[in-house]
Amino acid sequence: MRLLFIPLLVSFTFLAAHATSAETSQTTQTEQSRNPGPVPYRVQKPPLDTPWTYTVGTNPWPQHPRPQLRRDDAWQNLNGIWTYQPAASASASAAPATPPATPPAGELEREVLVPSCIESGLSGIQARNVTRMWFARKFSVPASWEGRSVVVHFDAVDYEATVFVNGGEVGSHVGGYDRFTVDVTRSVEFGGENDLLVFVHDPTDMPPYVNPVGKQKSTPSHIWYTPCSGIWQTVWMESVPSNHITRLDISGDMNGTVTMTAHGSTNQSTPVEVSVLGPNGGVLATASSLSDGPFSFAVPSPILWSPSSPALYSVRVKMGDDEVSSYTGFRSISMGVVEGVKRPMLNGEFVFLLGTLDQGYWPDGIYTPPSHEAMRYDLQVLKELGFNMLRKHIKVEPDLFYEACDRMGIMVVQDMPSLPDDTERRPPDAMQQDEFQRQLEAMVDNHKSHPSIVAWVLFNEGWGQLRHPPWFEARLTPVVRALDPTRLINAVSGWFDHGFGDFSDNHHYPTPQCGTPFATPPSSAYDARRIGFQGEFGGIGLNVSIEHLWNVPEAIATINQTYELAADRAAYNARSRELFGMLRSQVEQYACSGGVWTQTSDVEGEVNGLLTYDRRLLRPEVAQWKEDTRSVYEAAAARGGWGGGDGLRGGVRHQQPLG
Ligand SMILES: *[C@@H]1O[C@H](CO)[C@@H](O)[C@H](O)[C@H]1NC(C)=O
Ligand SMILES: *[C@@H]1O[C@H](CO)[C@@H](O)[C@H](O)[C@H]1NC(C)=O
Ligand SMILES: *[C@@H]1O[C@H](CO)[C@@H](O)[C@H](O)[C@H]1NC(C)=O
Ligand SMILES: *[C@@H]1O[C@H](CO)[C@@H](O)[C@H](O)[C@H]1NC(C)=O
Ligand SMILES: *[C@@H]1O[C@H](CO)[C@@H](O)[C@H](O)[C@H]1NC(C)=O
Repeated sequence: MRLLFIPLLVSFTFLAAHATSAETSQTTQTEQSRNPGPVPYRVQKPPLDTPWTYTVGTNPWPQHPRPQLRRDDAWQNLNGIWTYQPAASASASAAPATPPATPPAGELEREVLVPSCIESGLSGIQARNVTRMWFARKFSVPASWEGRSVVVHFDAVDYEATVFVNGGEVGSHVGGYDRFTVDVTRSVEFGGENDLLVFVHDPTDMPPYVNPVGKQKSTPSHIWYTPCSGIWQTVWMESVPSNHITRLDISGDMNGTVTMTAHGSTNQSTPVEVSVLGPNGGVLATASSLSDGPFSFAVPSPILWSPSSPALYSVRVKMGDDEVSSYTGFRSISMGVVEGVKRPMLNGEFVFLLGTLDQGYWPDGIYTPPSHEAMRYDLQVLKELGFNMLRKHIKVEPDLFYEACDRMGIMVVQDMPSLPDDTERRPPDAMQQDEFQRQLEAMVDNHKSHPSIVAWVLFNEGWGQLRHPPWFEARLTPVVRALDPTRLINAVSGWFDHGFGDFSDNHHYPTPQCGTPFATPPSSAYDARRIGFQGEFGGIGLNVSIEHLWNVPEAIATINQTYELAADRAAYNARSRELFGMLRSQVEQYACSGGVWTQTSDVEGEVNGLLTYDRRLLRPEVAQWKEDTRSVYEAAAARGGWGGGDGLRGGVRHQQPLG
């Protein structure tokens, strides 16, 4: 059966990659016998690897991690080999999130790769059920940075972190999906070596914790997966003026209006100058204003951003002594009425949102994609099959993921990572609701400058959604609307809809019920006041050979829970064609405005991906799927939507203005 599959686009690197890895581990072992100290780093063999597992090496994620707020000359990546050890359990009187009173003396026990989840093979640890842990490394601050501030950014640490520099506490953070920054200026020695020590507490879903966890589960089974703990996104350091830009909110609309807020570290209403650059670096528009408040200006006749023309424009911003580069795209998202039906509108026209459920799990890295190339590979596959959207499912990715979607032209429906699913037994209490809201606001604020993101999803299938009024989504929908009026809100993707937000979203397997006057409870029939959407459907499984499975007996034993398993690849593709045909007929007959096929890749005991979990096999027959996705867009075009191969008018592909 394997021979029938279309080989992976990147397969040319496989053999070379494996050879390199074997050599690397041998060297590491030799060094271990020479030097006592922490157990040296070595990739642990995960239950399944990917083409990238053994190419990661010890310099992971070297790219500048924040494409929309760059200071190219004054940053250092702190990823790489750190040390790690589990921390003692909390004393009876101390909160588990509180670090032990005495940080460990001397070196920690083992080397670890940062960024990684300690549960992953790539971490070099592959531990389970460690809830309290230490991470450490040394770092040098260039002498030339003296006189300016030094900030250390943690792009994501799951779940609570306390940071120490040279023995003193410099900051702490709660939340596994949003970045935080600590100002270490007064703690570091310029031109010398410094100690960075991080204490992490991550209880995942263990009672009494009701935290945003997404699909992480301390006891994984079928649709619930291995948790991620620790420093799972890039750590980096910057030299900045004491009054510097901490966040740049920037959006461009279809009329060429740029709206921007430069948030300064001191709230001093500092003068801000901004310029928008054209494809050849020429200045198209400039504006001046003050920091810490919104201002707008016009760019004449920009090329609009859309999936078929993902035009982006470079932006330079000066605030006092600080100077950063960024980018934006010009597009408007709204809800409109086309031929009597509520529709999602991109740049004033009905755009059919056709995507996949995109979970962002990796067998070797769990939450951390093995590399930028691996992360982009999934997106290339979606683009190739004709999808114009993905639903980023109850996980938040590194900024470079959204940048890739901005550049490649993939609309993103972004979910808030959900609370644990046992909401009937453990509904979030008042404090847990407040914390969920705080982290939701952080997700929106930190990502709202990406043109690719078109909608925010607050709840999935009732997980963490209160079962009684006042409805939790009634409180959160206006909060998100106020933070970001430029996008749509899907308050409830699947199940318990109480009329909030812009979507009437049904989940149903395998057949769609999209914008239809019928539904299977607990989803409800289409509500004509909002956009009819199929937040999940499909999910046809195809159990391939053992070498492409997450080789964990408990996971393999759950494969029989798949809604529908196809006997072979031909049956998988025939059945998929039927389901796309049903979606198309619902576009023709009812009020269907978008659909999400489950899912981009297999995950652990789920074998219903377009790609296997290792990304080595692609189940779809590419030519057939291209036809099927196109036929859905054509059905939408017949209802007043955009036509063309990816749901957009015209076949013109503009030159991308930004490199
Ligand atoms: C982790 O802890 C959970 C909950 O206590 C337990 O069910 C599970 O077996 C543990 N997993 C491992 C790998 O030890
Ligand atoms: C763009 O301009 C048109 C025509 O003036 C107006 O109707 C529309 O609301 C504007 N769109 C946005 C997003 O401002
Ligand atoms: C800046 O203003 C914001 C909002 O008013 C506030 O939360 C923050 O603490 C202020 N920061 C400084 C450094 O004053
Ligand atoms: C799946 O298989 C397991 C044994 O591996 C069995 O216990 C379980 O009942 C089966 N579940 C279904 C839904 O068939
Ligand atoms: C899936 O394939 C694996 C490996 O061949 C096998 O062990 C397992 O029983 C299969 N499960 C189902 C439900 O087909």
